[in-house]
Amino acid sequence: MVSSSHPNAPEIVKLDGKVVVVTGASKGIGKAIASAFAAAGAKVVLAARTRETLEQVAAELSVGGVSNPDSILAVPTDVTDVDAVQRLIEQALDTYQRVDILVNNAGIGYFGPVVDFAPDDWDTVLNSNLKAVYLCAKYALPSMLAHGSGQIINVLSIAAKVAFEASAAYCAAKAGALALTKVLAAEVRQQNIRVTAVLPGSVHTPFWDGIPAHPDFEQMLKPEHVADTVVSVCQQPLGMVTEEIVVMPPLGIL
Ligand SMILES: NC(=O)c1ccc[n+]([C@@H]2O[C@H](COP(=O)([O-])OP(=O)(O)OC[C@H]3O[C@@H](n4cnc5c(N)ncnc54)[C@H](OP(=O)(O)O)[C@@H]3O)[C@@H](O)[C@H]2O)c1
Repeated sequence: MVSSSHPNAPEIVKLDGKVVVVTGASKGIGKAIASAFAAAGAKVVLAARTRETLEQVAAELSVGGVSNPDSILAVPTDVTDVDAVQRLIEQALDTYQRVDILVNNAGIGYFGPVVDFAPDDWDTVLNSNLKAVYLCAKYALPSMLAHGSGQIINVLSIAAKVAFEASAAYCAAKAGALALTKVLAAEVRQQNIRVTAVLPGSVHTPFWDGIPAHPDFEQMLKPEHVADTVVSVCQQPLGMVTEEIVVMPPLGIL
């Protein structure tokens, strides 16, 4: 967490009461991010496709274990679907009147060498990791622009910068999303909206389920490491922006 104890330290941004939309909030990194914002007193809008797991997370995060729209709202959403993303933002605005922070975290990985990789899988990976970031930003931005402030955090991957074999679609999508992040930052910085790319190395989450050749789970980051990073970027004093942050396991790329 950001500490501002030294003399003349600029004030950190308080998250209490802020409205935060987190995509991919039903498991892994997104669930940890949602939990960290809820603990900081934010109102959190959870998005993922699977209603049951999403509602379970909403209940876990709500005070008393019962889903409570005063603080947590679960909106089953496929972030690759334009109508679904519009409904997500509409529900957030109907319930909380504004969106202060958008965390684009939902993503999926399909792996295999280009020569064997199915065109449908290519589309799924590109739509989930790249198009979804554009869609969610497009529909969340009007509220931020109207209020003259906001923050967008895009959870990407070190794969945006490093070429991993058998990962063409994933690397291309994350690299594209990094370029999109930079363009977005340039477009909205004059309107007091901060845009940050967070690039984690491997994190121990259900993402790795079904991937036989995976790094050692014990050496990976925990989802909470990434969640703490995201929350502390959002708490950073106004008057500065962290444009990009790489978070790696201590042993580097595993
Ligand atoms: N784990 C790692 O090692 C690692 C490293 C670097 C970056 N990342 C990135 O971090 C992000 C989160 O990964 P994770 O490890 O937490 O993955 P995860 O455990 O598999 O969770 C992915 C989340 O995204 C949701 N999701 C997937 N497709 C979606 C869609 N079309 N619409 C809405 N929600 C969707 C999933 O819920 P539903 O299936 O119910 O929709 C789930 O909540 C991803 O962008 C991933 O690329 C992961």
